[in-house]
Amino acid sequence: MSTPQDIGLFQTIEERHSVKKYEKGFVIPEQDVTEMLEAAIKAPSSWNLQHWKFLVIDDQDKKEQLLPIAYNQKQIVDSSFTVAILGDLQANKNAEVIYQSAVDKGFMPEDIKNTLVGQINGAYEGNTPFPRDEAVLNASLAAMQLMLAAKAKGYDTCPMGGFQRTRFVEEFNVPERYVPVMLLTIGKAAEPARQSERFLLEDVVIKNTF
Ligand SMILES: Cc1cc2nc3c(=O)[nH]c(=O)nc-3n(C[C@H](O)[C@H](O)[C@H](O)COP(=O)(O)O)c2cc1C
Repeated sequence: MSTPQDIGLFQTIEERHSVKKYEKGFVIPEQDVTEMLEAAIKAPSSWNLQHWKFLVIDDQDKKEQLLPIAYNQKQIVDSSFTVAILGDLQANKNAEVIYQSAVDKGFMPEDIKNTLVGQINGAYEGNTPFPRDEAVLNASLAAMQLMLAAKAKGYDTCPMGGFQRTRFVEEFNVPERYVPVMLLTIGKAAEPARQSERFLLEDVVIKNTF
């Protein structure tokens, strides 16, 4: 059964916390999973290249395999599933498809498309940190959107950077094109998250210039 809560954005943000204890065996309806992922892919991205792939790990054996890779953090096996957020290191390859579609639908003239595709391919040339920076940056925006979408539907999440990336890539057959950005557990909370604090706004906001 779906559990839409339709809570407002600010309340969703307030209520999202990194939950580590989940109701074991809780199954999230497929429709909710789809709607959460649909929300995630609405995230903005540089040149609209959509530098993300979502590896959804919901098979119990696969979760068990992932557990030691994630330093035995139990939320991997107790949550309903884990989404490995992958960033696209060759997102420039998406440009032709995305912009040709825009041309075909009359959203963009052909010459603008050709200029943009040329610019994008130019930016990805050479051995620079740019493709990796872009992959991590843009995939992270989708991850954030997925966390908020899950919370708005009444589920909880935990973003996780604590996992062995090389081993993950090997054991889950991640193609070279993609970099693992984070793991995201999603499920029904069994216990609330540990309380966390934030710096005061005045500590983090700088107006106009340092
Ligand atoms: C990139 C990233 C990596 C994180 N890695 C882990 C992790 O490996 N394990 C874990 O339990 N929490 C992890 N967290 C959760 C943070 O500890 C948590 O977001 C922070 O303490 C603030 O708490 P809150 O999310 O409940 O507001 C990570 C969060 C982020 C954004």
